[in-house]
Amino acid sequence: MDFNFTPDQLALKKMVQDFVSKEITPYALEMDKAGAMKPDLITKMDEAGLVNLVVPEEYDGPGVDALSIALMYEELGRGCAGVATSVAANSLASYPVVVKGTDEQKKLFFSYLNDGKLAAFALTEPGAGSDAGSVATSAVKDGDDYVLNGTKAFITNGGIADIFVIFANARKSAGIRGLTAFIVEKGTPGFTAGKKEEKMGIRASNTCELILDNVRIPAANRLGREGEGFKIAMLTLDAARPFVGAVSVGLAQAAFELAVKYSKERQQFGKPIASFQLVQAMIADMAMQIEAARLLVYKACWMKANDMPYTKESAIAKCYAADTAMKVTTDAVQVLGGYGYSKEYPAEKYMRDAKIMQIYEGTNQIQRLVIANNILY
Ligand code: CAA
Repeated sequence: MDFNFTPDQLALKKMVQDFVSKEITPYALEMDKAGAMKPDLITKMDEAGLVNLVVPEEYDGPGVDALSIALMYEELGRGCAGVATSVAANSLASYPVVVKGTDEQKKLFFSYLNDGKLAAFALTEPGAGSDAGSVATSAVKDGDDYVLNGTKAFITNGGIADIFVIFANARKSAGIRGLTAFIVEKGTPGFTAGKKEEKMGIRASNTCELILDNVRIPAANRLGREGEGFKIAMLTLDAARPFVGAVSVGLAQAAFELAVKYSKERQQFGKPIASFQLVQAMIADMAMQIEAARLLVYKACWMKANDMPYTKESAIAKCYAADTAMKVTTDAVQVLGGYGYSKEYPAEKYMRDAKIMQIYEGTNQIQRLVIANNILY
């Protein structure tokens, strides 16, 4: 077993660390308050090569392995989980194209990401969350086109993306086996962004409803076969969930570092609170949980990079790391006490940001189902 990173991986990690400390961390609270990223941030991230992370080399992308990507998301999560979510949604939206796209589809989709544009993965609907197979958006074949109708909900980058993967049902009577994935470009008539969500956390990221009103797209934009959509969605989520884990680890790390620093500075009863054993126990638990979560994330990514089955490990990594982020950020608020609860320090933002990690890309209850199914059946 080799716990070393390659020189390339270390260089990528360092590059993102430097970028984050200059361009993201100093503005994280401001972006949280504004409920949006700084207007020039995506352009800067594009210049740093952080927008098209999963685009393969043959399509002019970086072509880096899953572990390298996780290292980068960890650093982004350490700076701002909202910003990390927005770029991670690009990876999420890219996987259906990586997995099932034709050469033409890859050229189309990846040209957007290589140009620094954002993408969105639109599976969830008001009535189809955990039960992803119950998507009600319809896709009706009409000559060489499909006509899409329906509403998507809670779509990361929904209001700011230029290219989308939309899941719709092309054969209602077939249920889950009718689910089909399509590439849809912004500006297609009938395709609009609806209500923007006002969120508790990850507020720098954009989350929107999407409305499809008789959206006509060429059949050439269908990914894979009709009815293959559910499988494509599951393969995509397997690939992307460890990145939620990576963002969670980075977020937990940021909260941990803040709690450690504060505990050494804060004086009570005439000494730093770090000298009290009950505070030390919290610090030690945080360190253990982060270390375990990090190793689970790296392992899932390593298994993917080595073409091993990794559905269970992907769910374990996402679930454990998200629970860790929630626990560690909550304890960080506790260590900071009243200051932790105040907006004067970023601890309360970390805690608000952490909650979504247990909810999106499959709730942690769904992750536990996936894990149990992979053990029992
Ligand atoms: N890989 C490949 N195929 C898979 C698979 C996987 N990981 N998981 C399931 N499948 C296949 C099954 O083999 C089965 O195929 P057959 O019918 O050919 O046998 C088919 O898919 C149906 O599987 P299930 O019977 O297990 O399906 P289910 O309806 O019971 O659902 C579920 C399973 C795990 C609960 C799934 O619905 C799920 O993952 N739900 C959560 C949805 C989710 O994660 N949504 C996140 C949205 S994205 C988001 O949050 C992004 C954002 O903006 C940040």
